[in-house]
Amino acid sequence: MFTKKPIILAPLAGISDRSFRNLCRSFGADFAVSEMVSAKGLVYGDRKSRMLLVPDESDKPYWVQLFGSEPEIIREAAQMALAAGADLIDINMGCPVRKVIKTGAGAALLREPERARKIMQALNRAPAIPYTIKTRTGWDNEIFVLEDFIKMAAEFNAKALTCHPRTAKMMFSGKADWQRLMTAAEKAPLPVIGSGDINDAATAVTYLKHPALAGIMLGRGTFGRPWFFREIKELSENGRSWVPASELKRETILRHGELLKEEYGEKHSLLLYRKHLAWYIKGIPGAAACRKKIFTLTDPALVREMVYDIFP
Ligand SMILES: Cc1cc2nc3c(=O)[nH]c(=O)nc-3n(C[C@H](O)[C@H](O)[C@H](O)COP(=O)(O)O)c2cc1C
Repeated sequence: MFTKKPIILAPLAGISDRSFRNLCRSFGADFAVSEMVSAKGLVYGDRKSRMLLVPDESDKPYWVQLFGSEPEIIREAAQMALAAGADLIDINMGCPVRKVIKTGAGAALLREPERARKIMQALNRAPAIPYTIKTRTGWDNEIFVLEDFIKMAAEFNAKALTCHPRTAKMMFSGKADWQRLMTAAEKAPLPVIGSGDINDAATAVTYLKHPALAGIMLGRGTFGRPWFFREIKELSENGRSWVPASELKRETILRHGELLKEEYGEKHSLLLYRKHLAWYIKGIPGAAACRKKIFTLTDPALVREMVYDIFP
């Protein structure tokens, strides 16, 4: 699965929906992971969780992320995801958000390695589920578990492990500790993928070419920039800096609006589109005033007009 080092759109709750996965794939993302889906929600028939499983036509192969804390529920949810079209299941063992950790899922598992072990064991039971793990370096400065999780994941035949090298306690503060990640990855008996603070093509290529890493995952660096994947590929494969022309940006932004409309319907999609538009205009002259205006617009035709004005 990871023969060629992939550049991957990270699982991003509220962002890596079908529309954004489609856009990122069109710019060369090798994989695009779904938003995290509640294993319990799936198993208990929650409609919203079921909807999150629906693949986009670009999801080939399709990598779905689940979060949960109960091994058998996670196994059942993984089987449901496979039946819905997933090719690979990622298990979230790193999300530090309160709502998730209070259920014992996400980063809470970093404090409960025995439970994490049981989850991996359940997924590895015959017939084995093709799965990966996504984690952080540890809970806090006292509880570093990356090496243990790598060992466990290899023992229970995970296909890969992705690490965002911050502790859960750090949330998104400070810097991702890539040195620590590389040191662990060098000795790892399974593919290790790195995620964290990749915001420019040169950094991405440096990590991509590092012999210890099996691939890279991009998160916040793609916000308002689905073409980031192409920037990285142009640099790593052709050695050239590539910047999208204003027209390509405009067409991409408009397409994003159309995709969101198909996915969510006109009314709800506009709310989501505004959030993305605010990212798209970041850095352009007059962005602050533009952002204010964006959040007042309710007519899709006016939004379109505005996109034409900004990206002529
Ligand atoms: C808005 C947002 C939503 C996220 N949602 C998820 C998620 O659903 N599952 C997950 O494993 N990580 C999630 N993450 C973490 C990212 O996948 C990624 O590992 C992290 O942001 C570090 O990468 P970055 O610095 O490139 O953003 C999220 C991060 C952000 C900012």
